[in-house]
Amino acid sequence: MLSAESAAVVRATLPAVAGALDEITTRFYGAMFRDRPELLDGMFNRGNQASGAQRRALAGSIAGFATALLDEPDIRPDALLARIAHRHAAVGVTEDQYTIVHKYLFGAIAEVLGDAVTPEVAAAWDEVYWLMAGALIAQEARLYQDAGVEAGRAWRQWTVVERRPETPDAVSFLLRPADDEPSLPARAGQYVSVRVRMPDGVHQLRQYSLSSAPGDDLRRITVKRVTGEVGAPDGEVSNLLHERVCAGDELTLSAPFGDIALDDPADATAPLVLVSAGIGCTPMAGMLAHLTAIGSTRPVLVLHADRSPAEHALRAETRELVEQLPQARAVFWYQQPGLQEPDAQAGLMDLDGIELPEEATVYLCGPLPFMRNVRGRLLTAGIPARNIRYEVFGPDLWLPGTAA
Ligand SMILES: Cc1cc2nc3c(=O)[nH]c(=O)nc-3n(C[C@H](O)[C@H](O)[C@H](O)COP(=O)(O)OP(=O)(O)OC[C@H]3O[C@@H](n4cnc5c(N)ncnc54)[C@H](O)[C@@H]3O)c2cc1C
Ligand code: HEM
Repeated sequence: MLSAESAAVVRATLPAVAGALDEITTRFYGAMFRDRPELLDGMFNRGNQASGAQRRALAGSIAGFATALLDEPDIRPDALLARIAHRHAAVGVTEDQYTIVHKYLFGAIAEVLGDAVTPEVAAAWDEVYWLMAGALIAQEARLYQDAGVEAGRAWRQWTVVERRPETPDAVSFLLRPADDEPSLPARAGQYVSVRVRMPDGVHQLRQYSLSSAPGDDLRRITVKRVTGEVGAPDGEVSNLLHERVCAGDELTLSAPFGDIALDDPADATAPLVLVSAGIGCTPMAGMLAHLTAIGSTRPVLVLHADRSPAEHALRAETRELVEQLPQARAVFWYQQPGLQEPDAQAGLMDLDGIELPEEATVYLCGPLPFMRNVRGRLLTAGIPARNIRYEVFGPDLWLPGTAA
């Protein structure tokens, strides 16, 4: 796929480009948002901009893609891009915007690397960019088509039919299409973007996993209120949803997207292990509800860690769902155990002594350090890496090459 000439140039310049990617992406976003402020209104997440997480995810993905192309020049590493394509579809990226990103990204590369960017170097990296963009555009077109929406226009109004506090910090919103028209079914494990207008007039999007069975017209999301740590501000959208959104209100939601979804034809028999911590329980609750709804007989092991039973969102519901599945069991760990869960383990999740089914498919969701740790333990326990799938509740900073 990558021409031999370009491959040689990319190989020679990859260390310099990779080393400068942080500065390049900082300048890229700075210039792009200065000239195109509308992209920060209703598309990019300004919390991720402020924390630098989005910049690092973009840089990591470009370096990862270029490295994969060099390792196997004849294969376009499309699989690396599925997560990005789903996220792009959920925020409404369109084909024409790739030209805008290209202009500012390559402007920033030229600024940072100066004379080192000869026409040959620029052409070789151009090829990498358009291979990546081409693959993303194609995947995104398919996703929009499958969702039955026009590119970039996956938005629909939903009415909050119920608002239910789950814990002091987590609240669920049960939603129905405001126009009462049917909605396309989602897949268990997928998420939607919620689009809200902030008090300063700027629109912001955030993703929330579907925490109920995704098959019918009612959808549920469960939102944890984010409190700023060490001087950082509180999370803006989660707090707005907590403070302002009540039953009867409308929310703007995207169609459902997300590549980490349960592949579960009704007769699937492979064992499942659902591992989560904190608010990472939401996609697992959606998967469990789906398995129950289809009368699954798969062996399912649910492992969850939290600070305390009182802070464990959807705890009672998870227990009930597990009881309804003939071959499911759950183990919970709490740093501060309480009387509500007499059988729970004390402390952090510890997989020693947990019998993991062979050839299980594992779904993992929680903070990155938790997922790194658990994935390491799963690999040691003999679960093949290909069977471990993870969802990150933020820009993915756990890309190939950086995985622990
Ligand atoms: C696929 C996916 C599924 C998700 N599912 C769920 C779910 O089911 N439930 C759920 O609760 N969440 C979920 N999330 C997370 C959710 O999308 C939001 O990220 C979360 O609600 C926080 O958004 P916020 O607007 O409240 O915080 P933001 O305002 O975006 O802030 C996020 C963090 O950045 C920090 N920050 C903001 N500004 C600055 C600054 N200037 N300097 C330093 N730090 C700063 C904040 O302190 C905070 O820690 C999911 C995310 C993804 C990607
Ligand atoms: C080849 C070009 C591109 C690459 C390599 C790229 C890469 C990425 C990556 C790695 C993420 C984070 C995904 C995740 O981990 O969840 C992301 C998210 C995103 N991208 Fe792109 N992208 C490209 C083009 C574009 C274009 C053209 C736009 C539209 C202007 C765009 C807008 C976004 C937005 C809005 C997000 C979500 C950001 C957030 O919520 O913080 N991207 N992209």
